[in-house]
Amino acid sequence: MESVSEAAIEARRLTKVFDGPGGEVRALDNVDLIIRKNEFFTLLGPSGCGKTTLLRLVAGFEQPSGGELLMDGEAIAERPPHRRPVNTVFQSYALFPHMTVAENVGFGLEMMGRPREEIGQRVERMLALVKLEGMGPRRPNQLSGGQQQRVALARALANQPKVLLLDEPLSALDFKLRKEMQIELKRLQSETGITFVFVTHDQEEALTMSDRIAVMSDGNVLQIGSPTEIYEHPTSRFVADFIGETNLLTGRLSERMASSLRFELDSGGLLEGQEDGGNETGARVTLAVRPERAEISREGSGLAARIEQIVYFGTDTHYHLRLDEQTPFVVRHQNRSGATSRFSQGEEVRVTISPDAIRVLQD
Ligand SMILES: Nc1ncnc2c1ncn2[C@@H]1O[C@H](COP(=O)(O)OP(=O)(O)O)[C@@H](O)[C@H]1O
Ligand SMILES: [Mg+2]
Repeated sequence: MESVSEAAIEARRLTKVFDGPGGEVRALDNVDLIIRKNEFFTLLGPSGCGKTTLLRLVAGFEQPSGGELLMDGEAIAERPPHRRPVNTVFQSYALFPHMTVAENVGFGLEMMGRPREEIGQRVERMLALVKLEGMGPRRPNQLSGGQQQRVALARALANQPKVLLLDEPLSALDFKLRKEMQIELKRLQSETGITFVFVTHDQEEALTMSDRIAVMSDGNVLQIGSPTEIYEHPTSRFVADFIGETNLLTGRLSERMASSLRFELDSGGLLEGQEDGGNETGARVTLAVRPERAEISREGSGLAARIEQIVYFGTDTHYHLRLDEQTPFVVRHQNRSGATSRFSQGEEVRVTISPDAIRVLQD
């Protein structure tokens, strides 16, 4: 268990139930979670899984139906939003249109009654931090979408919150700007040392930006880990499927050997693996294999497969195979040599998967 002092935010069996017109909605269902100080923590999951609800509970805009929420080790349920060391950045920038950029950024400090000179200096510093030097006198409608989002960030950072909550802040931006802002946000987080809790439904965004990710589904946190852990060691079918492309194979744990395990696949053939996922010999299992961890060859001892389609992507080529009628399988081959496709559609091939690339899922 982690020590309490490391935790910026801790949720213990946190539950939120809404009374909707169609009955009760369990937006959060006994969520346990620790967000460490100074980390870039991402809540990742499909629309409706409870991400915004969790942020709103942390910010104090909603009250929990059950469980506990702690900040810095202290229960905060009773504390109103303005007494929590937290600020939020929304997808809609929510800037005040009648105020200048500088007035927007300084607004929170103004409300706190800080001296004018201090506000001026802090606003300058914040605008420099988000690379908007000299833009202070403009109005929001004289800025691009990306610049407006930077103003919203500067405003949220101005009164030095301990935690910054970001609810899909990049999803209104176009692709290129979004990529730029991903790097910017990451830089801002490491420069300020503020704990970022970032919400997205975009798996690539989560993988590239986060120190740790919590994958959510239907009000539950399914897995928490670093991007590598989540991508390379998914524990459930949902996580394996939601993050990146994955091949799922069903079968049976058929044999235990001295240093490895053998799986008998429903599609035919045997696979050697290293982990048993806590299963007994004979148990039914679902295995996950990433497309880039498998290779195809013309001969050898791999699984028998037939090439249905070859898709060339420039950097890689995707081979869509079939192990049998029910079992599709994708192999992704990186085009290092620049050679054209080595295989052709309809060809019978062999698929080899290294034992350490096989994950045994828990459901
Ligand atoms: N104020 C509310 N009243 C009723 N249901 C709500 C309310 N807010 C959210 N919900 C429901 O709670 C679930 C989680 O919503 P939300 O946290 O907004 O998901 P996400 O941000 O992951 O898309 C959804 O089913 C949503 O419809
Ligand atoms: Mg949301």
